[in-house]
Amino acid sequence: MHTLIILGSPRLNGNSETLAQAVASGIRQHPDATLEFVRLNNLRISPCQGCGGCNKTSTCVINDDMTPLYEKVDNCDHLIIVSPIYFYGLSAQSKTFIDRFQARWARKYLAKIRFREGEQRQGTLLATAATDGKKVFDGALLTTHILFDALDLKCGGSLLAKGVDQFGAMHKQTQTLEQAVTLGQEIVTDWHRLKKTDGSIPAPTQPM
Ligand SMILES: Cc1cc2nc3c(=O)[nH]c(=O)nc-3n(C[C@H](O)[C@H](O)[C@H](O)COP(=O)(O)O)c2cc1C
Repeated sequence: MHTLIILGSPRLNGNSETLAQAVASGIRQHPDATLEFVRLNNLRISPCQGCGGCNKTSTCVINDDMTPLYEKVDNCDHLIIVSPIYFYGLSAQSKTFIDRFQARWARKYLAKIRFREGEQRQGTLLATAATDGKKVFDGALLTTHILFDALDLKCGGSLLAKGVDQFGAMHKQTQTLEQAVTLGQEIVTDWHRLKKTDGSIPAPTQPM
């Protein structure tokens, strides 16, 4: 079972990455689970140009550091999007990455190709924010749920940490970090359980 973790913060070892490392440590407790981190800030990914090229071919016409990521996402069993909240939404790095999946939206909704249908592949959002605003994660949740739908991933839930701002602040939220380790363990056990039973996890209610 392979998990792909997409880091969307420009801050190396920042709060969202600390949360992601805790989830990863839970995943690593299962000997047959593999995982890979991708740090978006180190890559050159052009924003979607809205050219419509993918409408016909389901493939993006832009050739840049995003190109190999399509295959990595196709091949993973669980996708984790990790982002700080910027202006009540995802970071620019995360949103730019997500917009480029218009090619996958085209594959599903224009070419009508369902991907790895019947498998219990899931997507999860990890996010951190400085404030504790009631709606602070709404934009990020909605965007990632729509991404997961386009990728034929079920919504595997989210772990959202409020009130973390300064570099290192996440380390003080020990309870949330414990939850993150548990989430990592569950990501792997759910995959094996659902593979056996072919059952399904109900998606969390999507904010609209
Ligand atoms: C450009 C920018 C915009 C931000 N906007 C918000 C915001 O709208 N709401 C909020 O609660 N925190 C906001 N923050 C704070 C970050 O979400 C917070 O510091 C987060 O923990 C950073 O995670 P990181 O260390 O992984 O980058 C903003 C920070 C920056 C740099």
